[in-house]
Amino acid sequence: MSAAQATERYLISPGGEVRGAVRVPGDKSISHRALMLGGLAEGDSEVEGFLASEDCLATLAALRALGVSIERPQRERAIVHGVGARGLRAPAAPLDMGNAGTAMRLFMGLLAGQPFDSTLIGDASLMRRPMERAAVPLRLMGAQIATEEGHPPVRIHGGSALRGIEYELPVASAQVKSAILLAGLAARGRTSITEPAPTRDHSERMLATFGVEVTRSGRTVALEGGQALRGARIEVPGDFSSAAFFLVAGCLAGQGLTLESVGVNPTRTGLLELLRRMGAQIRLKALRGEDRGSAGAEPVADIEVRAAPLRGIEVPEALVPLAIDEFPVFFIAAACAEGETVVRGAGELRVKESDRLAVMAAGLGTLGVEHELLPDGIRIRGRGELGGGTVASHGDHRIAMAFAVASLRASAPIEVLDVANVATSFPGFVELARAAGLRIVARGSG
Ligand code: S3P
Repeated sequence: MSAAQATERYLISPGGEVRGAVRVPGDKSISHRALMLGGLAEGDSEVEGFLASEDCLATLAALRALGVSIERPQRERAIVHGVGARGLRAPAAPLDMGNAGTAMRLFMGLLAGQPFDSTLIGDASLMRRPMERAAVPLRLMGAQIATEEGHPPVRIHGGSALRGIEYELPVASAQVKSAILLAGLAARGRTSITEPAPTRDHSERMLATFGVEVTRSGRTVALEGGQALRGARIEVPGDFSSAAFFLVAGCLAGQGLTLESVGVNPTRTGLLELLRRMGAQIRLKALRGEDRGSAGAEPVADIEVRAAPLRGIEVPEALVPLAIDEFPVFFIAAACAEGETVVRGAGELRVKESDRLAVMAAGLGTLGVEHELLPDGIRIRGRGELGGGTVASHGDHRIAMAFAVASLRASAPIEVLDVANVATSFPGFVELARAAGLRIVARGSG
C-alpha cells in the first residue's frame, strides 16, 4: 500500500437519515469461488454480478497466472474458460493474494494437488494471518506445504499424490473447509470434514452447480475425489456482509430503506437474527428461494428496514460463525442500543484483517462507549448515543465502514483513518452511503 493510500480517510458529519433503494455489489465469497471452480471446470463458465473488488481481482489475477483465460466483457461479468482439473500450469512468480484470506486459503487447497510448485504471498495484514489451520489437514492428505512460523509466504511443493481424509475441523472456518474440499477433488478416495458449528456453505452449493456430488449429513460434508466439474452459469447475489452496513444504518436511522437482491443464505444471516432479538424492524421479501433455480442456487431477497429502538442482548455462541464478518457493525448497533450486549466465543475475530475485538474496542472507546474487552469477545454498555472523534481502522475494510455507520448516532464528526482497503470488498461504498443519506466524504493524503 502506498503512503497516499495509507492516509486515505473518511470524514463523516453526525446525524442524518437513510432511505431509498440500495443495491450493494456482488458477494465476495461467491465471486472468489465462481472464478476458481470455473477455472477448474471443463468448458466455459459465466459469472454475472461478479464483485470487481481488490480481493476478487487478486483471485482473478492468480488464475490468469495459472493459465486460465478470463474475459471481462463488463466490470461485473466474467467469462472463465475452464482448463479442467489437470489443465493449470506453473505460475512464473509468487501469487499475490493482496488482503484476501479467502483467496489464500482456498488456493492452498486448489494448488496442493497440482504437479508444480507455487508460492502464495499477500499484503502486510495477510502476511500476519494464520495459515497452519489450512496447511495441517492438507499435509494429512499428503501435500507438501510450508509456512513461515504459521504465516505466509505459503510454499507448496507440487507433485504429491493426495489421498482423502476424514477431518474434524478444530475451528469453525468455511475457508479451511473449502480448502480441504478443493484438495479433495484432486485426491484419491473420499474426503469428509466435520465442522464444530455450521459455517457458510457456498462451496458446497457451488460445487453442486458445477456437477460435483457433495453429501451432507449433520455437521459432516463429504465428496469423492476425481469428479470432473462442468462449466456453469453463476448469478452472484448482493453481498449480505456489505448489505449489513446499511442494515444497521437502517436500524439506527432508516426511513424506508430497501436493500435489493441480497444473498440470504442462512449460513450468512446471523446478523438478521441478532438485530431482530434487539428489537429491529426488518422484513424480507424473497426473490429466489432455496428450492427454486438450479441445485445449489443461493437464496436472494429484498430486505426492508426502518428505525426502531434497540435493546442490548446476550449473543448466543451458536450464532457467532453465522455472523462472523458482521461483528464490527453489530458492535455499533450494540453501542446505540439501550443496555448491555455481550459477545463471547468470538476469538476468531482476533485473526481477521485486523484484531477486530481490539480495534473495535479502541474505536468505541474514542466515541465514549463504555465497554470491556474479553479474551474471546466484548461487553458493550449501550446508551443510545455516541460521541465523535478520530478512529483508526488499521486498514480493516469492515471496521472503516462500521464507524462510518456510527455517525448516524454521533453527536460530533467522526474521522476514520486508513480506509483505502474498503475497496477490497466494497467498491463504491462512499457513493452508495451518500446516496442513502450518510454525510460522508473520502479524503486523500494531506
Ligand atoms: C469466508 C469465510 C470466513 C469469513 C471470510 C470469508 C469464506 O472466514 O470471515 O470473510 O469466503 O469462506 P473463516 O473461514 O476464517 O471463518
